[in-house]
Amino acid sequence: MKKIAVLASGSGSNLQTLIDQIHQKDGLICVVISDRKNAYALERAKQAGIPAVHISRLKYNSDNEYDAEILRILKKYEAQAVILAGYLKILTPLLIDAYKNKIMNIHPSLIPSFCGDGFYGMRVHNAVYEKGVKVTGATVHFVDHGIDSGPIIVQRAVSVEDSDTAEQIQQKVLNVEHNILAEATRLFLQDKIEIINNRAYIKK
Ligand code: GRF
Repeated sequence: MKKIAVLASGSGSNLQTLIDQIHQKDGLICVVISDRKNAYALERAKQAGIPAVHISRLKYNSDNEYDAEILRILKKYEAQAVILAGYLKILTPLLIDAYKNKIMNIHPSLIPSFCGDGFYGMRVHNAVYEKGVKVTGATVHFVDHGIDSGPIIVQRAVSVEDSDTAEQIQQKVLNVEHNILAEATRLFLQDKIEIINNRAYIKK
């Protein structure tokens, strides 16, 4: 079974979906790493018997040294791929290049809308609400050297009703995130994703 690592900074509901739907089925979550000591994602990993590692950014002099430590942990646990499940730090080229087209990220909008620098968490949904768009959704994509800019693997849309608050939009999108993250991870683990000219194609 392929081994995947999960990086998370927050409550870990996306991680929990992977634990429930993917772990020890389509693949193995070999380690969960967080930059936040109190990230509930670490607790979820422990409850599932998965190694949970907090790496404090304060202990390292640079993002490169920090990512070098992440890389060391990924190698220690033999991770063949990495999933960013609500991970708020930007990866350095050191880490991205070590796992080219093997790092997937879940973003809470339909990329290329409402993404890029500064668009994360509620900021995305507040911008969606302010703009008055009629559909939003979530995207799973491979991580490249840009922000939210790598090949798109799976997307799913949700309707935005006039009465929806930003929080209600977030909840609708979070439900979709869980579904498409599990779907994209399964496709990856089954080697069904092909990258041609920086576009991801799903093999039938
Ligand atoms: C999600 O909204 C995800 O789109 C964003 O961060 C949040 C993570 O939520 N990247 P959780 O920690 O998986 O519950």
